[in-house]
Amino acid sequence: MARSAPAFACSACGAVHRKWAGRCDACGAWNSVGEEAPLSSGPKPLGARGTPVALTDLATAEPPPPRVPSGLAELDRVLGGGLVPGSAILVGGDPGIGKSTLLLQAAASFARRGLACVYISGEEAPAQVRMRAERLGLADAPVRLGAETGLRDILTTLDATRPGLAIIDSIQTMWLDTVESAPGSVAQVRASAQELVTFAKRRGVAVILVGHVTKDGQIAGPRVVEHMVDTVLYFEGERGHQFRILRAVKNRFGPADEIGVFEMTGMGLAEVSNPSALFLSERGASSPGSAVFAGIEGTRPVLTEIQALVAPSTLGTPRRTVVGLDGGRLSTILAVLEARCAIPFTGLDVFLNVAGGLRVSEPAADLAVAAALLSARQDVALPPDMVFFGEISLSGALRPVTQTENRLKEAAKLGFTQAVAPSRSKSPGNHEMRLREMPDLTAFVGEMFGAG
Ligand code: TYD
Ligand code: MG
Repeated sequence: MARSAPAFACSACGAVHRKWAGRCDACGAWNSVGEEAPLSSGPKPLGARGTPVALTDLATAEPPPPRVPSGLAELDRVLGGGLVPGSAILVGGDPGIGKSTLLLQAAASFARRGLACVYISGEEAPAQVRMRAERLGLADAPVRLGAETGLRDILTTLDATRPGLAIIDSIQTMWLDTVESAPGSVAQVRASAQELVTFAKRRGVAVILVGHVTKDGQIAGPRVVEHMVDTVLYFEGERGHQFRILRAVKNRFGPADEIGVFEMTGMGLAEVSNPSALFLSERGASSPGSAVFAGIEGTRPVLTEIQALVAPSTLGTPRRTVVGLDGGRLSTILAVLEARCAIPFTGLDVFLNVAGGLRVSEPAADLAVAAALLSARQDVALPPDMVFFGEISLSGALRPVTQTENRLKEAAKLGFTQAVAPSRSKSPGNHEMRLREMPDLTAFVGEMFGAG
């Protein structure tokens, strides 16, 4: 029998290489390329004919599948209104962030509402999972529990029991005996996920896969799994903070970018139905460098505090440290402030932080970032009852953003009375916020900080 040539794959991006390399050409990661068992044992004979695929119309008389809500409102929101039967969901996150806790709570909640749930743990012994359930007050929930890593046995079990939902914790511990590499390798993760997703579709069993994220923020064997599943959720949080954010980054059955907010307590994860109040709760008396951003996360307005610190640097290249925002965005805003408003940050260290551990990716945060930076640099506190939103263009103009009304309403609800926003923001009439519209950054600097 001819031995097929060994293949190599990158564990960060899944790219396949012909030979070993110290650095992956595809994603640039170092030391990530390793040997993988080849996926197929040889070429299929050419000209062999398959069976015709059954084609159907787009129009259907069948009603859409009912969604099954878990009863955990924050989870249901992120799923787009509940669990879709037969869907495949990937939940990714750092080790120890609370994925197993969240999914055990979800399983218990679904099971109590009558959806048969099977929880397969490949990482913990049943006794450990039971202990956690006890601690969370879920010991009486009718969840069926299994500890196994062999996928063949798991699929046989699921096929025999046909639950409504199967949770696989985690995909990195699963292995298929048809694939010759170790559990956790790209080939195993890919093949195992493929088997589970196919099973979900064929049998109408919803499957949730838990995936650990590697140091650089990728689920191991990542893109391949993300492509296969219907929904990708990330469970994020800052270490040392009790807030946890479940974010939909892909959802075939609902809006992407929706977030659910939880708080890790001694009794498991508690839902946070008013995140703005929580994110602003740590805010003390208004001090220089603090600006409140009226943002939108998914379909919901969320207020967060942007904190900046600007200090003389002792380094040749001053520090630019960002937590919770994109570093490239900070550089752009600093460059616009320098080029359009003649406010240089040369020789100054800049630290930027979103309070509470939220990650903000909306361009609408630009104006709040600029406000925090200027406030820190000029050592002038901003009015405590003021919120900011608006995108900054490279010309220094302020661009209107969506959902002005929702942002203002949320700010008013939390006791803010004025908002700074780009001109031509669709200003709605009847609410108690004073809207201060600015055409560009220069006008903003002039109005808020004198001439700059
Ligand atoms: P876990 O769900 O095991 O994380 P993951 O599956 O993502 O690796 O969560 C473990 C952490 O959560 C651990 O540091 C302890 C903490 N925790 C609580 O604070 N309260 C609780 O009720 C539970 C169950 C865990
Ligand atoms: Mg776990």
